[in-house]
Amino acid sequence: MSHNKKAEQLLKLREEAKKGGGAARIKKQHDKGKLTARERIALLLDKDSFEEIDTFVTHRSTAFGLDKKLVPGDGVVTGFGKIEGRPVYVFSQDFTVFGGSLSETHAEKICKIMDLAMKNGVPVIGLNDSGGARIQEGVSSLGGYAEVFWRNSMASGVVPQISAVMGPCAGGAVYSPALTDFVYMVKNTSYMFVTGPNVVKTVTHEEVTSEELGGASAHGSRSGVAHFAAENDATCLKDIRELISYIPQNCEEKTPRQASAEPDRSKADALDNLVPLNPNKPYDIKDVIGGVVDKDSFYEVHEQYADNIVVGFARLDGRSVGIVANQPLSLAGVLDIDASLKGARFVRFCDAFNIPLVVFEDVPGFLPGTDQEWGGIIKHGAKLLYAFCEATVPKMTVITRKAYGGAYDVMNSKHIRADYNVAWPTAEIAVMGTKGAVEIIFRREISKADDPEAKQKELEAQYSEEFAHPYKAAARGFIDDVILPSETRKKLIRALEVSQNKADTVPKKKHDNLPL
Ligand code: HXC
Repeated sequence: MSHNKKAEQLLKLREEAKKGGGAARIKKQHDKGKLTARERIALLLDKDSFEEIDTFVTHRSTAFGLDKKLVPGDGVVTGFGKIEGRPVYVFSQDFTVFGGSLSETHAEKICKIMDLAMKNGVPVIGLNDSGGARIQEGVSSLGGYAEVFWRNSMASGVVPQISAVMGPCAGGAVYSPALTDFVYMVKNTSYMFVTGPNVVKTVTHEEVTSEELGGASAHGSRSGVAHFAAENDATCLKDIRELISYIPQNCEEKTPRQASAEPDRSKADALDNLVPLNPNKPYDIKDVIGGVVDKDSFYEVHEQYADNIVVGFARLDGRSVGIVANQPLSLAGVLDIDASLKGARFVRFCDAFNIPLVVFEDVPGFLPGTDQEWGGIIKHGAKLLYAFCEATVPKMTVITRKAYGGAYDVMNSKHIRADYNVAWPTAEIAVMGTKGAVEIIFRREISKADDPEAKQKELEAQYSEEFAHPYKAAARGFIDDVILPSETRKKLIRALEVSQNKADTVPKKKHDNLPL
């Protein structure tokens, strides 16, 4: 065969591989509102940056006539490319080939890029769209999944791992995305569940659709399994590109820095009068974030889940930070089980990847009730506390109003080694709110008074004067300063700058034993 013929053969084989499961199955994929594996990669990565590997890999099964059905690539497209010029590894399951089901060789392809990603210190992005274990392969397929799970666990905290679920993801297959750092889902075309609607109906007699049971909304707002719920494939992929811009390539890199941008002027100007003096009145903590961080830089994570705490990435003078903020608009910003889990997971990601933490605190305490106590608020709240305690990245806290009780300690207080803690003049740093405190410590005086109501008011005023302010904490050095809200941005930027070379460690150990 001549050189020309050999080249022609190669190009022909490449073209064949690109056809996946063929035109009819591609049409079916499009008709469902889904893009193909390769179309997704093209949208995810910078133009012409994708280098595919293992294009010609085929499965080794012979059962059920599979030896006659060999499709190059075996249902997953793998390789590497760039996002805004920075390398990433990617795998994209091809539903048009055996329903994207995972064979032994399909798993080997995923494992190969995961191993390379670990070796080269590069993030891994997995686009999942699969009918699960390749049924014809039996236990070989299950072994393949376990190989992927093991690598997910080993890569955790070493390189960022991002999953997009863009089609079916059922049974044990859900555990690969679950082990990664961020899970994106697409509304109406993706679902994740351990057991599907049929099994649910048999076992619990509940009638539920796939979308209700495990769609993007269910996991974005109820279970918290998904961090993001996108409208369609294209927005999902665009969102992943944006996320990548905030995070480093691996645990040894610093976060990328971009050009600084002054915050939204109207939000910045409103800061000094934003917090209501009446502690029972809410305000939107996102207005605080918007007035402090670089314009349009706030990238919220878990927006629909546990909205009494707000977490996400932002930039301060172009530098990435992780924001954790109590939200007075929802449940008065109280910490409950879901908020603790959401906050803890985010704090641990930031710490693992050298992203400094900025906390905006307005927290009345932990949510009371049997639901919470029997649900384990003690152990779940402890996770958030643990996450802040163990974090060695630069840690900053701005107390905007309430910092009561145990929640004061938990929310990145000075005592658990935060670096820069400040309070606004509206801050109230105390064991509890005025009314509750007075009712407990002056119960006898109030009940004996001629006019109990007037007595209570008088004692509340006294308590408030004594405790409902930041100056007792400032006098002890528990906060570093009391600042005007409008000074917050400037001071945080300076605190961030001075902590660029922070070197802190935790004691040597095999691994921690955080309260799971
Ligand atoms: C092999 C599969 C497959 C699978 C789908 N296909 N799932 N082939 N193994 N697991 C093939 C179909 O035969 C079909 O081939 C093509 O993919 C498209 O499937 P359709 O059924 O036509 O598509 P659709 O109607 O959209 O339904 C998609 C689906 C359904 C809901 C995913 O295919 C399905 O229920 N599949 C089985 C799911 C499942 O039970 N998987 C095992 C779960 S247990 P042709 O040639 O006709 O195009 C599991 C354990 C993992 O995964 C354990 C890890 C520890």
